[in-house]
Amino acid sequence: MHFNMNVMMDTAIFLGKFLYYFLESVAFKIIPRRKKDVAGDIVLITGAGSGLGRHLAIHFACTGATLVLWDINQESNMETCRLAKEKGGVKVFAYKCDCSNRQEVYRLADQVRKEVGDVSILINNAGIVTGKPFLDIPDHMVERSFHVNVISHFWTCKAFLPAMLQANHGHLVFISSIAGMVATGKLSAYSASKFASFGFAESLFLEFTLSYKTKIKSTIVCPYFIKTGMFEGCTTKYSFLLPLLEQEYVAQKIFNAILEEQVYLLIPKFTYFAVILKQTHFSNDERKNFNSARTRFLLF
Ligand SMILES: NC(=O)c1ccc[n+]([C@@H]2O[C@H](COP(=O)([O-])OP(=O)(O)OC[C@H]3O[C@@H](n4cnc5c(N)ncnc54)[C@H](O)[C@@H]3O)[C@@H](O)[C@H]2O)c1
Repeated sequence: MHFNMNVMMDTAIFLGKFLYYFLESVAFKIIPRRKKDVAGDIVLITGAGSGLGRHLAIHFACTGATLVLWDINQESNMETCRLAKEKGGVKVFAYKCDCSNRQEVYRLADQVRKEVGDVSILINNAGIVTGKPFLDIPDHMVERSFHVNVISHFWTCKAFLPAMLQANHGHLVFISSIAGMVATGKLSAYSASKFASFGFAESLFLEFTLSYKTKIKSTIVCPYFIKTGMFEGCTTKYSFLLPLLEQEYVAQKIFNAILEEQVYLLIPKFTYFAVILKQTHFSNDERKNFNSARTRFLLF
């Protein structure tokens, strides 16, 4: 009897929250969300030397926030630093860092704390890809994909979270990928590491936001293929349906999602559909399930 009451109670709370969040999401389509002021925040971006990282740095440079740029490529990172300063970023600090190296992350995190201060917005953006059939991927690239795309997030979060928790103020951003929600062929190491980064990010979000009720925010970003050079030569089967995304467009969406403290961001919206489609029955007998299989191949 007591058990039944609990189940009924939990179900009623679930349905109530479901309705509330559904109405909230509809309302936010009409009323724009309030954007937070990040002037005074210290924003660290990994992989700031090119692509999305560079665009995000340029966006944050206009906000009055202090920027800390990390990249394994010092030359391109210095170029981002120059561009960010040109856009009005007065306090921009660039460091050469291999995020996959735990000791290097911890050493540089200490240096940043001393030279700049406590990071309050951490954008885990650095990433690498190996686009090859599974058996052709060299072993070291499997390991490297995991070290850069997800294990590095453990080190950066361990390095910067304690100060955020102490101040009860902070924001963790994870640039995962739609390939971390719906896998695609010839990207096994990339997809697997992005699934892992999504899982890590979601688990931290639940741990900090729900369990300890802190004010630490999370944003998990899953974009479709972008024209940054990372997926050079990649084309989509029906580009009118799902064209490669422009980097500036994606960076703007991510920037807005961070300022609006949005938890999940899938870009473009069409990809929400792909996630739902994935739940459809998909057996090895392609002919039997031709329609669902064909729809998936249309997308990837
Ligand atoms: N390009 C896409 O189609 C696409 C799609 C979905 C998600 N993403 C993700 O977006 C993020 C940014 O990708 P991008 O498209 O801007 O790629 P990019 O190659 O232009 O930028 C990645 C940056 O990360 C840096 N980097 C690589 N390894 C590093 C390491 N060990 N330590 C520090 N820096 C390192 C590189 O030097 C580079 O500047 C990645 O996590 C990527 O997986 C990209």
